Amino acid sequence: MTVRIAPSILAADFARLADALAAAEEGGADLVHVDVMDGHFVPNLTIGPPVVKAIRKATRLPLDVHLMIERPERTLSSYLDAGADWISVHFEATPHVQRCLDAIRKGGARAGAAINPGTPAEALDECWNDLDFAVVMSVNPGWGGQPFIPASLSKVQRVRGAVREAGARALIEVDGGVEPANAGQLAEAGAEILVAGTSVYGRDDVKSAIAALKAASRGGVRV
Ligand code: DX5
Ligand code: ZN
Repeated sequence: MTVRIAPSILAADFARLADALAAAEEGGADLVHVDVMDGHFVPNLTIGPPVVKAIRKATRLPLDVHLMIERPERTLSSYLDAGADWISVHFEATPHVQRCLDAIRKGGARAGAAINPGTPAEALDECWNDLDFAVVMSVNPGWGGQPFIPASLSKVQRVRGAVREAGARALIEVDGGVEPANAGQLAEAGAEILVAGTSVYGRDDVKSAIAALKAASRGGVRV
């Protein structure tokens, strides 16, 4: 199975987002990963609905909007209105995960839940029927460019086991520190979508960076 690559524009130049989006599209990206941070759930602050709306107009690729925000149920509808195609909320950010997932689906987007490195895989066990994708964070969210936490690999395996056991169809996305050197192992462990910021936009050539991730996740040559 081919792993989907979702470049994270967090590592791109925010003053030249249109160029970054065009490069992802030309480079064969499958989704664009958009990191929304509120300065509360995570210390960093990034963008909100108006910028998501502008990004929506600037690319044909589906937008995978990762909400690192407290109480996402309060502002979810703005991200749906802004044109998000996939939306993930953090399990740790709300007592109402199921309500959020239901609202995302009712709003016509794919519903995801993300779990931090310190959150056990079992946290998702009550949600499988409401989930289109599960996001395993392989760094503590807040910044791009952090090193991959090795224990994430076995967590991906446990999440894959849980998806199978539940007879669910949720896809498994991995976010943080993904690079060609770990993409093959992640794909083998069950990752189906790889988010990559620094290993795409931190390279001179976005197209070859995406190609390297795809090759590595197919068990190809490490670059
Ligand atoms: C981390 C973000 C990630 C980040 C990944 O808080 O959720 O999506 O952009 O960036 P890299 O690939 O540089 O770790
Ligand atoms: Zn992210």
